[in-house]
Amino acid sequence: MPDKEVHQSGDIVRLIDIRKTYITGDLQVPVLKGIHATVKRGEFVGFIGTSGSGKSTLLNILGMLDVPTAGQYFLEETEVSQLTDVEQATIRNRKIGFIFQSFNLFPHLSVEENIEVPMIYGRIAGRIRRKRALDLAQRVGLGHRLGHRPTQLSGGECQRIAIARALSNNPAFILADEPTGNLDEKTSDEIMKLFHELNREQGVTIVMVTHNPALGPHYDKIIRLRDGRIDETLLEWEVKKQEHAVFKEIEEQRDKAEVEINEVTQ
Ligand SMILES: Nc1ncnc2c1ncn2[C@@H]1O[C@H](COP(=O)(O)OP(=O)(O)OP(=O)(O)O)[C@@H](O)[C@H]1O
Ligand SMILES: [Mg+2]
Repeated sequence: MPDKEVHQSGDIVRLIDIRKTYITGDLQVPVLKGIHATVKRGEFVGFIGTSGSGKSTLLNILGMLDVPTAGQYFLEETEVSQLTDVEQATIRNRKIGFIFQSFNLFPHLSVEENIEVPMIYGRIAGRIRRKRALDLAQRVGLGHRLGHRPTQLSGGECQRIAIARALSNNPAFILADEPTGNLDEKTSDEIMKLFHELNREQGVTIVMVTHNPALGPHYDKIIRLRDGRIDETLLEWEVKKQEHAVFKEIEEQRDKAEVEINEVTQ
């Protein structure tokens, strides 16, 4: 294995001037125009931006499913471009759970088999695979659909299978492209709760594309893409979040004080 360039930092992800230009025929389409960003270990990051702003493109680069045209991507201090394809595939399988915007389920495989695919690549024994597939299917509320094929499921159910599959190898890093985009409010809340638990209780780092930052309390940080770059107004959101927390605390203290006053005066 060649010596890897090491970047000293505690970040799980560091992006330096990442650019991506798609070339179709004579046409050059610059999508990412110099992205600088970091994701800390254990952080829950939300990605927002208008349709076509490059969210999926950036997520694919983070998941090593696509390569940037220029710039450096350090994943756990290793520069990704210096890894061989096999090394990238191994890291992807062992450490990363990727939830695609379009699910990417195998249509000819059952729900159970779809969830098992990453475990097969990870050489997990059949008995353990099946048990874990059942556990995960139950966790996303589809334990009763194990024998179904994706074509026999609703969009929201496919979404949930894609989530179960992404969790099957206990990833330390989850990349999720609008994982609640096809779900009703109740299921969406449940799935966000699941991600929240993975993040807060198991320390899983999550980067999630969302159109709905109103699901905000889960996020540590929101990154907004605009015109191929990171829009600094995201900081406003962080400030608002802090203000919200302060307001909530003040309200709680006031409520508590009112209860105490009532108790004393009764
Ligand atoms: N393979 C490709 N070849 C050429 N252009 C592409 C390719 N993939 C994406 N693009 C273009 O890059 C831009 C960004 O696409 P991307 O899918 O990253 O957007 P997005 O922010 O995820 O949008 P959405 O919210 O609709 O999912 C779009 O204008 C798209 O047309
Ligand atoms: Mg997208």
